[in-house]
Amino acid sequence: MPYEPSSVLLTDRVAVITGVGRGVGKASALLFARFGARLAVCDRMADTLATSEKEIAATGRPVLARELDVRDGDAVTAFLGDVAGEYGQVDVLVNNAGGTFFAPFLDVSPKGEAALVAENFSQVTNLVRGVVPLMPEGGAIVNLTSIEAHQAAPGFAVYAAMKAALAQLTRTLALELGPRRIRVNAIAPDAIPTGGDEDLQGEMRAAGAEYDPAVAPPLGHMGTADDVAAAALFLASDLSRFITGTTIHVDGGNWAAGGWRRMAT
Ligand SMILES: NC(=O)c1ccc[n+]([C@@H]2O[C@H](COP(=O)([O-])OP(=O)(O)OC[C@H]3O[C@@H](n4cnc5c(N)ncnc54)[C@H](O)[C@@H]3O)[C@@H](O)[C@H]2O)c1
Repeated sequence: MPYEPSSVLLTDRVAVITGVGRGVGKASALLFARFGARLAVCDRMADTLATSEKEIAATGRPVLARELDVRDGDAVTAFLGDVAGEYGQVDVLVNNAGGTFFAPFLDVSPKGEAALVAENFSQVTNLVRGVVPLMPEGGAIVNLTSIEAHQAAPGFAVYAAMKAALAQLTRTLALELGPRRIRVNAIAPDAIPTGGDEDLQGEMRAAGAEYDPAVAPPLGHMGTADDVAAAALFLASDLSRFITGTTIHVDGGNWAAGGWRRMAT
């Protein structure tokens, strides 16, 4: 079947997106709503979640919003129960919530490590287990990884390892869930200034390990959360109907250039 302009639309599809209070998650929720989706969103920050909920509602599309920490399995189960009650099924899951702190590996305590594993990996496996039974007609899962899933990342060892695990999980789930007509793909962003990125830069500055602001991605400028949201829309929509188990790098060419922005030392 040829692709039509409507292939990019998500008309009435139910999209669950985690971490929509700011950054990539918020941009994705707003873009998906503008392309017709019905949204189910969550974030652990009540105030920014409330603002995002209002902005999504202003598009005229339905939105169910819950304040929760995705590492809390019981809260996620309750959320997905509400989603099933409200919409009946799920078509798209965007595992966007994630993050890290800056610390050399030897300074990361076992407790800190456990928090990073939960924040960037176990919460995703938990969400996938909960959502797949709600996708009886197939669907699309989009996992936010990172350029750091694909290269060494000093100061971010556990985060990078968990994002690499997520990239590998993406490939395996693509094969296991293919027969259910569920596609599973990843997006590896870099050079996208967001609140999370700003927080990290502050931590790195404090530790004397700042990014070199003079080093721009090959495209010559930084990206935006909307650029990542556009890739998420593509992977959620029928335009990517034959794509599964892969990663799109949204980084202005940084990965092609051999990796990460250089750190000023
Ligand atoms: N910005 C970048 O350049 C970049 C680069 C590589 C990877 N990423 C990945 O993209 C995703 C989004 O990044 P961002 O820059 O928009 O982040 P961000 O920190 O700006 O926003 C993340 C949002 O998710 C929420 N969140 C985080 N952990 C949560 C949890 N445990 N429970 C509920 N809500 C939670 C936060 O409250 C926040 O609203 C993340 O997975 C991040 O690792 C971003």
